[in-house]
Amino acid sequence: MLFPQSTYVERRRRLRELVGNGLIVLFGNNDSPLNYPANAYKFRQDSSFLYFFGQKRDGLVGVIDADSGEEILVGDEIDIDDIVWYGSVQSVKAMAAESGMGSSAPMSRLAELVSEARAKGRAVHFLPPYRHDTQIQIMDLLGIHPSKQREGASTALIDAVVQLRLVKSEEEIEELERAAAIGYKMHTAAMRLCRPGVTEQYIGGVLDGIASAYGCLPSFQSIVSMHGEILHGYPSPRPLEAGRLLLCDAGAETINNYCSDHTRTTPISGRYTQRQKDIYNIVVDAHDLALTAARPGVRWWDVHMAVCRLITERLKDLGLMRGDTDEAVRAGAHALFLPHGLGHAMGMDVHDMEGLGQIHVGYDAETRPSSQFGLASLRFARRLEVGHVVTDEPGIYFIPDLIDLWRREGTNAEFLCFDEIEKFKDFGGVRIEDDVLITPTGCRFLGKERIPYHVPEVEEYLAAHADQSPIVF
Ligand code: GLY
Ligand code: MN
Ligand code: MN
Repeated sequence: MLFPQSTYVERRRRLRELVGNGLIVLFGNNDSPLNYPANAYKFRQDSSFLYFFGQKRDGLVGVIDADSGEEILVGDEIDIDDIVWYGSVQSVKAMAAESGMGSSAPMSRLAELVSEARAKGRAVHFLPPYRHDTQIQIMDLLGIHPSKQREGASTALIDAVVQLRLVKSEEEIEELERAAAIGYKMHTAAMRLCRPGVTEQYIGGVLDGIASAYGCLPSFQSIVSMHGEILHGYPSPRPLEAGRLLLCDAGAETINNYCSDHTRTTPISGRYTQRQKDIYNIVVDAHDLALTAARPGVRWWDVHMAVCRLITERLKDLGLMRGDTDEAVRAGAHALFLPHGLGHAMGMDVHDMEGLGQIHVGYDAETRPSSQFGLASLRFARRLEVGHVVTDEPGIYFIPDLIDLWRREGTNAEFLCFDEIEKFKDFGGVRIEDDVLITPTGCRFLGKERIPYHVPEVEEYLAAHADQSPIVF
């Protein structure tokens, strides 16, 4: 286990206290086949299961009785075939003892535990499932069809899990620092490889390889594309072209499943053109603005809005927008260029706890979500607290289909200079992303070494490392 037993015991004690009553059932993940049962994806434990029990084996379920305090680790023992092929692992009983739980039981006992609780009219709390096999487990146990399980999930449990997981402890921050250090290796390797002729796919492969070599996995599918305007543009076998920008958005998960998430947008020829600098420097300033604004007590919503105003002002200077800045931002006109939010919570999930529902994680009674295009994609908006970890990832994109659509429909036409915007349709997109920890006095980036992002540093780094590809290909 990553942390001492007492950490998991205390987390579960607080969970019981917050949920108050009923039977809490937390499902671990099962092995997930790729193309036939024995050929599985690399196993990834469910983050909440890992947070409360610390155990990484597949096929486990944790049961916590919030009334009596009884805790049972449920799972079947592996058999001799498993041992022959994959080696021996701890027994379920030994894992339960290691996690500080009173008892263990085989999977057949789970249905009885749930039935007994229901027969007494007690609540059975579960989190919204995101894997089909877990949905089948819940359907078998509770008779709830998968299509109704999201609404059947326990809000009390979701809120309690969010409250606990959102604030990172010192030990968790150390782990996030490790993830950021791997992210530094990944992104500086991508920058050293970024030159005409190398393929997006090759760079993506190197990024993924570094994430796996130093940690568990990439924290999400790596985004590597000359088409930075495609927000999630996955790498293609296309060779990089001189004069264009390459957007790399990638992160690592440590071996203990804490994440990083960084984006850099690198000039393939080694230097930004003046036009690229005009746009890129707006994103740099937006990125830096977030660092000066974020501190405990400030809403991330307001930081996002400050960034939107800065982008609007500067696009007005370039002749791409016009009109009153506040009105333009209120109308959502800037979302033509920034159709996503400034950032999201990050932790054991790269979009931390997104599976529990954005409204529960990023919003609260005070800060409610918007349905406006762009703002609706702000995944985190609530008031910042010490120990929150959020990504700071502004961007500016020129999405030809979106430009055409808004122009055709006259969307926000009073704030948008479409004739000028047309000239940028071949530009692509820029995003810069780092991970930010909220501290008592403000905030700081995670990661000791900064992946270069200011124009002079990037160009210097590229010039200094032009002949130092991390891998001979
Ligand atoms: N997975 C892309 C991002 O949130 O940065
Ligand atoms: Mn990212
Ligand atoms: Mn991100």
